[in-house]
Amino acid sequence: MLHYNSEFYDKSAFAKAKNSLNHYEQDALGDVTGKNLLHLQCHFGQDSLSWAHKGAQVTGVDISDTAIELARKLSKELEIPARFVCCNVLETSDQIEEKFDIVFTSYGTIGWLPDLKPWAQMIAQRLKPGGRFYMVEFHPIAWMFDYLTMPATMRYHYAQQEAIHEEYQGSYASPDATIKSEEYGWNHSLSEVLQSLIDAGLHIENIAEHDGSPYNIFPEMEKRDGLFYLENQLYPTIFEIMVVKSNHG
Ligand SMILES: C[S@@+](CC[C@H](N)C(=O)[O-])C[C@H]1O[C@@H](n2cnc3c(N)ncnc32)[C@H](O)[C@@H]1O
Repeated sequence: MLHYNSEFYDKSAFAKAKNSLNHYEQDALGDVTGKNLLHLQCHFGQDSLSWAHKGAQVTGVDISDTAIELARKLSKELEIPARFVCCNVLETSDQIEEKFDIVFTSYGTIGWLPDLKPWAQMIAQRLKPGGRFYMVEFHPIAWMFDYLTMPATMRYHYAQQEAIHEEYQGSYASPDATIKSEEYGWNHSLSEVLQSLIDAGLHIENIAEHDGSPYNIFPEMEKRDGLFYLENQLYPTIFEIMVVKSNHG
């Protein structure tokens, strides 16, 4: 509810534009008219409804029943039909039999999952032959830093096996909120992400790393041309991967 009402997710701007997507994912997936799209970890559905508004038939999955309830409410209010399913993303195939042209996930998702092997296998199961999986995520180098210190300190391994535990005031979407966030996350190296998808039988079509992030989720980022950059930019903040399932799969 805090995120639903936050400036970050700007409900009224979304109601007008019906598009919360950034240029990375829009450029990568292009025209989605008539395609069926599975959105993993869809939160309260703004991006899912954006794809639906662009003409895709969308199913969103999230583990939070509050997020799924809000997504259904938003879908009804904006009269943009989409299906929302509440489940652990790793158990998607127990809940959904349909196969998809596109599986999509973005910004702040895989860090909640300790092991990417079952995640990649589920993606392969849910894609049609010839279907594509696209992800755009915060870069694992960016997660090596503890941003609770000023300046940020390099504290975590690039491919840390143990969970990273952090407690901080507010939340990424409402930094001034009077709540305490307590999070356990996992930092996944690019090789871990890629190898899990390769081991699931998928073919990597494209990988890219970018300095500019659509979100200022790290402190003291500078905005230039609509994207946020770290001061003394020495590493990328975003990566994107496009994967295809073979036509014989
Ligand atoms: C940071 S949000 C995703 C943000 C999304 N890009 C957006 O802006 O709406 C991460 C989401 O992952 C969901 N999540 C975390 N672990 C999950 C799991 N194991 N299965 C399904 N959803 C999960 C959370 O409930 C949350 O809605």
